[in-house]
Amino acid sequence: MNQDEMKQAVAKAAIDYVIPGTIIGVGTGSTANYFIDELAKIKGKIEGTVASSVASAERLKAHGIHVFDLNAVDGISIYVDGADEANKHLHLIKGGGGALTREKIVAAASDKFICIADESKLVNRLGRFPLPVEVIPMARSLVAREIIKQVGGEPVLREGFTTDNGNIIIDIHNLDIMEPVKTEQLLNGITGVVTNGLFAIKPATVLLLGCQDGIKTID
Ligand code: 5RP
Repeated sequence: MNQDEMKQAVAKAAIDYVIPGTIIGVGTGSTANYFIDELAKIKGKIEGTVASSVASAERLKAHGIHVFDLNAVDGISIYVDGADEANKHLHLIKGGGGALTREKIVAAASDKFICIADESKLVNRLGRFPLPVEVIPMARSLVAREIIKQVGGEPVLREGFTTDNGNIIIDIHNLDIMEPVKTEQLLNGITGVVTNGLFAIKPATVLLLGCQDGIKTID
């Protein structure tokens, strides 16, 4: 199996977690796209979805799947999304596609977070993948200085990118994340930061990994 086939297999496996008659939170990225395509096959069994990005909402609607505004729903049963890195504690780095803030909001509104990824995403220590931070544009320089002071690493502006919320992304390179919860808290405490791509305070509930020899479940 190549990487795409592993993503597809794990997206298919996530369908087993879908609770009929409920609202499903849907993430962003290539693995989440495979999940959307699988969800389309059982769309009559769910009440609808809440999407974590404009791109995912468009893909869902193209399949004829109803997309609710988050404010219009009482709750979400499961949130299904990919990750850029994951460790065995189910702490994640997300936001490679820049949708981290809405992803964190939809995950927070969901009873369970089913993370789907190919085996290359499992790491011993988070941080080789540059950690995305969504920032209010006028605070760019202040936030970059504070990142260096408070957590270290090399903050780099993601050139030519604007989030669905109209903000910028600073990616922190070369950060060895020894204490993911602490790093997530420190970054969120910097004035001008909207949120960061660490999902450690509220980790995934289950990690489904697409591997050469099948699906591995870590929970
Ligand atoms: C987007 C994300 C994605 O989940 C992450 O980038 C993984 O993407 P892919 O499934 O394409 O490997 O956080 O903001």
